[in-house]
Amino acid sequence: MAGVELRSVSKRFGKQHAVRNVSLEVAPGEFLSLVGPSGCGKTTTLRLVAGFLSPDEGEVFLGGESMTSVGVRQRQVGIVFQNYALFPNLTAFENVAFGLRTRRMPEETLRARVESLLEMVGLAARAAAYPRELSGGQQQRVALARALAIQPRVLLLDEPLSALDAKVRNSLRFEIKKIQRESGITTIYVTHDQEEALSISDRVALMHEGRIEQVGAPGDVYLRPSSLFVADFVGVNNLIPGEYLGEGRFKWRERVFEVDRGELSPGACSLMIRPERLRIVSAAGSAPEGTALSGRVLGRVFLGPLLRLAVDVEGERLLVDLLNTEIAPPAVDEEIVLTFSPRDARPVRGR
Ligand SMILES: Nc1ncnc2c1ncn2[C@@H]1O[C@H](COP(=O)(O)OP(=O)(O)OP(=O)(O)O)[C@@H](O)[C@H]1O
Ligand SMILES: [Mg+2]
Repeated sequence: MAGVELRSVSKRFGKQHAVRNVSLEVAPGEFLSLVGPSGCGKTTTLRLVAGFLSPDEGEVFLGGESMTSVGVRQRQVGIVFQNYALFPNLTAFENVAFGLRTRRMPEETLRARVESLLEMVGLAARAAAYPRELSGGQQQRVALARALAIQPRVLLLDEPLSALDAKVRNSLRFEIKKIQRESGITTIYVTHDQEEALSISDRVALMHEGRIEQVGAPGDVYLRPSSLFVADFVGVNNLIPGEYLGEGRFKWRERVFEVDRGELSPGACSLMIRPERLRIVSAAGSAPEGTALSGRVLGRVFLGPLLRLAVDVEGERLLVDLLNTEIAPPAVDEEIVLTFSPRDARPVRGR
């Protein structure tokens, strides 16, 4: 097992600064997701690790060794791309066997390895099928088996599920996670789907305009985003622009609310309150001092287990999630009072 390290890595394409001074360590056996909006530099970062690109500045290390003068093949990385990229004229079996044949593995060992990999991805019965005879999800399983066949030191996955429908994506997501856990292979998983990243990763690295904004466990980046970008990108959020006064006090217009103390110094900030952390109370008087927000319901959206309300609070539009087991949820146009616990209201630098 090999860890991956990027040390102050930058990459430009002409004037386009695709990756800016990125430093990142992925521990041996770790599953790390790179997540961020389109164009933020995820694929470029992955290509730098794989060796398809070389950095303008900085260095990439695999297993503690500098890769500066090591080619793609010698790096021994397994790669799965978004668009399957199987060889159309080879069967599933031969696709998986491809890398082993070029490495001149003896036929018997090769056969056993390929069969066990196809078994692992649930395609033992389709070994003789050609890619065109397989569904998208099955093709992506073959691509995964092919990437694992060479026993790579690191597995790199670039949006491997984005072309699949939601159901298949969900089940394959957990299969990838399971295979990764069992094989213990260091994995970097690229996705623009933050929900997917949160659900399968040990840690998530959030990229924005070529930089890494925050790296942390899923719960960390969700509960304690270090920037407004992360607060906005990860999950659904309410971000109320105002001013942090210090000592757990947040000023919004003429009022002061009691909020989480955090580590923030006083200044312009946004108050983050997740929709599931807002509660409805019967009257303003029943909310604790400094945590009452009066508003009017603008709309309701059915989300299966949740009912999401959009509420107008003095011109600020807030989202509130209720469990759908609620007996009498407020109707559109109803006047309601919201409250929150100060520790669920987190000031984040910026507006
Ligand atoms: N070969 C290239 N030549 C020129 N510009 C490039 C090249 N590859 C990437 N870029 C630019 O670098 C930036 C980062 O691209 P990259 O492909 O890494 O983004 P990404 O995060 O993978 O986005 P997406 O989610 O859309 O796949 C983009 O602005 C892109 O246009
Ligand atoms: Mg990409």
